[in-house]
Amino acid sequence: MSAAEQTLLILGATGDLTKRLLLPGLGGLLAAGHGEGLSVIGSSRAELDQARWRERVADSLAAGNARGGQAEAVVRSTRYIQADIAREDDMRRLLNACRGQVIVFFALAPAVTLTASKVLCEVELPPGTRLVLEKPFGTDAASAAALNDLLARLVPEDQVYRVDHYLGMSTVLNILGLRFANRMLEPVLRAEHVESVDIVFDETLALEGRAGYYDRAGALIDMIQSHSLQVLSLVAMEAPSTLGARDVRDAKAQVLRASRVWDDDPARWSRRARYTAGVVDGRRLPSYVDEEGVVLDRDTETLAEVVLAVDTWRWAGVPFRLRAGKALRTQRKEVVITFRAPRWVPSGLTGYDQPDRLRIGLDPDVIGLDFNVSGRGHPLVIDPFTLEAGVGAGHLPAYGAVLKGVLEGDPRLSVRGDTAVECWRIVEPVLKAWRDGSVPLEDYPAGSARPAGW
Ligand SMILES: NC(=O)c1ccc[n+]([C@@H]2O[C@H](COP(=O)([O-])OP(=O)(O)OC[C@H]3O[C@@H](n4cnc5c(N)ncnc54)[C@H](OP(=O)(O)O)[C@@H]3O)[C@@H](O)[C@H]2O)c1
Repeated sequence: MSAAEQTLLILGATGDLTKRLLLPGLGGLLAAGHGEGLSVIGSSRAELDQARWRERVADSLAAGNARGGQAEAVVRSTRYIQADIAREDDMRRLLNACRGQVIVFFALAPAVTLTASKVLCEVELPPGTRLVLEKPFGTDAASAAALNDLLARLVPEDQVYRVDHYLGMSTVLNILGLRFANRMLEPVLRAEHVESVDIVFDETLALEGRAGYYDRAGALIDMIQSHSLQVLSLVAMEAPSTLGARDVRDAKAQVLRASRVWDDDPARWSRRARYTAGVVDGRRLPSYVDEEGVVLDRDTETLAEVVLAVDTWRWAGVPFRLRAGKALRTQRKEVVITFRAPRWVPSGLTGYDQPDRLRIGLDPDVIGLDFNVSGRGHPLVIDPFTLEAGVGAGHLPAYGAVLKGVLEGDPRLSVRGDTAVECWRIVEPVLKAWRDGSVPLEDYPAGSARPAGW
């Protein structure tokens, strides 16, 4: 076997994730010259002829801007194998079809991933096999821990890649550079100087026909339990001494272990809402409950907010507000660090009414500083001022960056098993309070900024 030969075996190859994220992400990676020696095998239960499969792969790779030699080689060599991964024989057949190092990508619903993992325990895996799993990892802390145990029977932890593609976004990674390579910022990023931290993922997109997945998840599980907490861990972690996988993941885990709902009171410190009919970006949207596939009794929220405490020497007493929602007026994905008021504003200098803020825009990639100056209009009157600069998108799409780690055996951008469990542990009291009815489900018209009173 050639050392560079690798096979990406996609379980769930006819699904939405493969089409919209995985293959376009791979396309971006190939376009950047990575992925030499890679072949792709797609599999699911549906019948699909090879020509049709190759066409699908070509279209999805092209959506990630892949063209030229590397992409053509992948399209030429890719194969589709019809199989039911609940059956051992089928799984064996799939693994036997792979060449070189095997990378099994579970683009499957969580329950089917569990089944596939159990079946893999009965089948001999080629040495060095890597396993790649998408969010949600499990459905609660107990199931995530059980899935970890199962995966540990298959391969060592550093061969398990739990994908959170937000970790591949260049600005999310830039949080580390911004925090730890600037003498003027790092000393003030702590409770003595910071009033609060907001991590906001407001989308203008609505359900977009994804009720099958989203109506069972909702904004809290879809976004906050995974992406927002990953971002929080980077914003709040202590400086690792290296950016090696172990140091970075240890530092993230420490923060997440220290995080809990503010005052341990989810009824008071969480909110949820669901959009009603409205207009977003000139598009008329039906009420969420009238979208195809939505089940009213599930009471699924499309906007969630949770306030967390991070009980560390650095952050104790600083609220971290995490909010994520759909069908909102403006797209806003950013971390906002709000500083405390100055200890003393000299008397005679008037007009101080807003704190300074550091804004880390996650899409588009922008760094901004809101601060106060005097002198533009009247030298003794404070005048808020914003400095903003685009930092440029990374050279790989987020999903491509995560896949690069998988292909190159670098687990730095993937979520470690203990961390995946912690993320469930943090949100579980909120889920329970919502299930108990302790937090009302509010509403907001699609296209509005947020519910009245938020
Ligand atoms: N879609 C997204 O944007 C997105 C984003 C982030 C995370 N995710 C996660 O990614 C995973 C997949 O999501 P998805 O949206 O792609 O789901 P999906 O569209 O429902 O696709 C599921 C795939 O699994 C296959 N499958 C189901 N049972 C199977 C079996 N027994 N044997 C072999 N194949 C089987 C299906 O094909 P057959 O029915 O033909 O077998 C299909 O290809 C989920 O965990 C989801 O939470 C999705």
